[in-house]
Amino acid sequence: MLTLLAILAVSYLIGSIPTGIMAGKLLKGIDIRKFGSGNAGGTNAFRVLGWKTGLTVTLIDIIKGVVAAVSVVAFFRHHPIDVFPDINEVALRLLAGMSAVVGHVFTVFAGFKGGKGVSTAAGMLIGIAPVSMLMVIGIFLLTIYLSRYVSVASMLAAVAFPLIIAIRKYIFELGSGLDYYIKLFGEPLSFHDSLDYHLMIFGLIVALGILYTHRANIRRLLSGTENRVTFGKHS
Ligand code: G3P
Repeated sequence: MLTLLAILAVSYLIGSIPTGIMAGKLLKGIDIRKFGSGNAGGTNAFRVLGWKTGLTVTLIDIIKGVVAAVSVVAFFRHHPIDVFPDINEVALRLLAGMSAVVGHVFTVFAGFKGGKGVSTAAGMLIGIAPVSMLMVIGIFLLTIYLSRYVSVASMLAAVAFPLIIAIRKYIFELGSGLDYYIKLFGEPLSFHDSLDYHLMIFGLIVALGILYTHRANIRRLLSGTENRVTFGKHS
C-alpha cells in the first residue's frame, strides 16, 4: 500500500511542476495565467512567451507524463517501500500517469491552478501506447492546421484516443506495432492481454477530464471568441 501511495504521490509531484508558470516568471517576470487564455499550459506559453518557449514547455509537460507512467512505476518496482502493488501493469502505469495529469491541472506549487492536462496526458499515453498515439498526434496536428484552434485539436485528440483503441481492437486488430513495442521492452504477457481494455476505459476518463478542463474554451468557441493560432507571429 505504501508503495502504491508513493507512486501516486511522486507522480503527482512530477505533474505539479508548473513549467509554463516557471518559464513566464524566469523569462519575463510574469504569471502567464494573467495573460492570453489564462491557462498555465504550453499553448498559452506559445501565445504569451513565443514559440520556442511554448514548444519547450509543451515538451517538458509531455515528458512529465512519460516519466510518471514509465519511470516512476519502474523505479518503485525495483525499490518498493513495502509490497509492490498487485495491480495490472497497464492500470498501474495509467494510474501513475493520471496522477501526474491531476498534478499538472491542480498543481500544488501554484495555488492548484495549472494547465489543462493535454500534454501530460499525451505523455502518459505515449509511454504506454506509442503507436496509437502517433495517430492521435496526427489528428491533433491536422486539426490545428485546418481549424487554427488548439483547443478543438486537444479535445478531438482526447476523444480520438479511446476510439482508435476500440477500432484497433474490435474492427481491424492492427496490433502488430504494439506487439513489436511490447516484445522490444520485454513486457509480460498480462501487459498485452489487458492493454486495450484498460486503455479504452482510462482513455475515456482522460477524454472526459480534458473536455471538462476545456469548458471555458467550449464557451468561447460557441460565442465565436476562441483564440486562433497565428503562425509566424512570435519570435
Ligand atoms: O492544451 C490546452 C489547449 O487545448 C487550449 O489552451 O490556452 O487556448 O486555453 P488555451
